[in-house]
Amino acid sequence: MFEVDFKPATAPLFTLRICINRRLNTDNLPNCTGRGSRGLADQLEQLIDGEGLPVKVLRGPCMNNCAKGPNLKIQGADYFNLDSDVSDARVEEIMSAVRREVACRTSGAAPGPAV
Ligand code: FES
Repeated sequence: MFEVDFKPATAPLFTLRICINRRLNTDNLPNCTGRGSRGLADQLEQLIDGEGLPVKVLRGPCMNNCAKGPNLKIQGADYFNLDSDVSDARVEEIMSAVRREVACRTSGAAPGPAV
């Protein structure tokens, strides 16, 4: 007999969308990648996978709020403008919102932003 480290695939309950747009022009306008969104996406994906949360991290294009980025959106719920702050406290704030949304959706309560 042998043991297999196998986790069955679960369909995600919702997506966490993160802008990873990078401006290729030279006008020095702000963009989310320039403010750390790609590293943040990797970090959040590791945390979500580590906790086994059924959430898909979706790296996407510009969300039209470049001056306040990195920008993130929990599908059907909270929206975050990090305004260049990718500190551990902000990451934990996002993870708390993700956990709350998972709990909400698995308990059958109505999803939505925190009050
Ligand atoms: S570059 Fe991220 S919102 Fe525009």
